[in-house]
Amino acid sequence: MARATSLYVCQSCGAQSRQFFGRCSSCGSWNTLVEQTATPTDNRRRRPVAAAPEAAMPAAPRRSEPIAAVGDRPLQRLGSGYGELDRVLGGGLVPGSLVLLGGDPGIGKSTLLLQSAQAMAARHSVLYVSAEESAQQVKLRWRRLAEEQGELSPVTAQEAGGAGLQLLAETDLELVLQELEALRPAVAVIDSIQALHDGELGSAPGSVAQVRECAAALARIAKRQDTALLLVGHVTKEGMLAGPKVLEHLVDAVLTFEGDRFASHRLLRAVKNRFGATHELGVFEMRGQGLTQVLNPSELFLGSDEPSAGTATIVACEGTRPLVVELQALVSTTSYSSPRRTATGIGTNRLHQILAVLEKHLGLPLSRFDCYLAVAGGLEVEEPAADLGVAAAVVASYRDLTLPPGTVLIGELGLGGQLRPVAQLEQRLQESARLGFRRAVVPKGSGLGRLAAGLDLQLLEAGGVAEALVAALGVNPADDRA
Ligand code: TYD
Ligand code: MG
Repeated sequence: MARATSLYVCQSCGAQSRQFFGRCSSCGSWNTLVEQTATPTDNRRRRPVAAAPEAAMPAAPRRSEPIAAVGDRPLQRLGSGYGELDRVLGGGLVPGSLVLLGGDPGIGKSTLLLQSAQAMAARHSVLYVSAEESAQQVKLRWRRLAEEQGELSPVTAQEAGGAGLQLLAETDLELVLQELEALRPAVAVIDSIQALHDGELGSAPGSVAQVRECAAALARIAKRQDTALLLVGHVTKEGMLAGPKVLEHLVDAVLTFEGDRFASHRLLRAVKNRFGATHELGVFEMRGQGLTQVLNPSELFLGSDEPSAGTATIVACEGTRPLVVELQALVSTTSYSSPRRTATGIGTNRLHQILAVLEKHLGLPLSRFDCYLAVAGGLEVEEPAADLGVAAAVVASYRDLTLPPGTVLIGELGLGGQLRPVAQLEQRLQESARLGFRRAVVPKGSGLGRLAAGLDLQLLEAGGVAEALVAALGVNPADDRA
């Protein structure tokens, strides 16, 4: 009989130790170790390796097979009712898969899943398990959404032959599992995994042991009866999925729902996806009547029509989707001993690097100026393809120049001041032309002259940053008389 012992489990990464530490020795987070009483499970004894010669050993049954002989099972995906969500999932929900949706409190996770559960209920059996809100609360929200959006009305669901949406307000894992087995839904939403509670474990809801056990039990049942599970997960102050790193390994896809709480748009991304590409982006807008899809997100990230000094337009690629985005820079004389550099939406290191390149290769004394940079609409642009746009916005603000309207800038800056080619240039040009842009400054040797002519887009190719800025601004920014 195994003896019960004390174990300290990190609530962030799940690492275990016999001793208490203020700081987890595995992931480095502070004050995350929590005592748990655990009964060590008997490690199953491995079969002793026989020392006898091979010939004497009985042939063990083979369980592997040639990969080409593995039976094909076509992946039947279930549409979530929202094209933007389907895109991020890689084309829809896969039966038997687990999808974790993380995001800050109040960002709209419950709203998104309730809306798509309702949309899916028109064609499939769907169970919505609310462990955080009471059935009344969910119903109130559902009714408000249903009234505002005609497509969500229960009448249309029944007309389409769907069974409608089933709701269960429950925190006890055992009862949730029983309901899943009784109902065998095609899709089930669990809102949220941290609020579920397995009575057999001693620890509190939301602790690593609880979350891991609950998710593993749900995963087993989902795989067994081919139910696609959507789990809501909380995010800590630091933006990590709360508690369980372990959970990220267990699920098939991790989506994050993010956005500025003060702006209305919300971005849905896949951080991990076993059934599709990551880096795909879905864009929603939170309105009074719930979330609506933004099918044309570029318009969201373009600022005013009036061109102003220090503004440049870039084309960022999020997954396969090009987004035309406006950048603004403000360069002003510093009153500090070391100048201030603040960037929203672009890494500060990237900004430092671009400023250094401009200082060195254009001879602009930017180290005596403060520099602020912002991306419109609160988007995070990680791509180096935005470099040229940043450089143009900074130089335009420094010289008080306005870029000619209808110009986009695409290119990565090398430390030597050269302009490097970027991926997916073709899609970027097509999106710019679609939105009415007429000039594009791009790295040399794109070979897309023909395409640009067809798009009625003037293609200005440049080999270096100085050349590109002259082409974009029409004057030489390095020239002091400019
Ligand atoms: P919710 O889905 O409860 O967020 P989460 O589950 O991620 O915590 O969303 C709550 C926020 O969304 C709340 O602040 C109000 C806002 N909201 C709207 O603006 N319009 C709506 O129609 C709904 C349902 C919510
Ligand atoms: Mg919620």
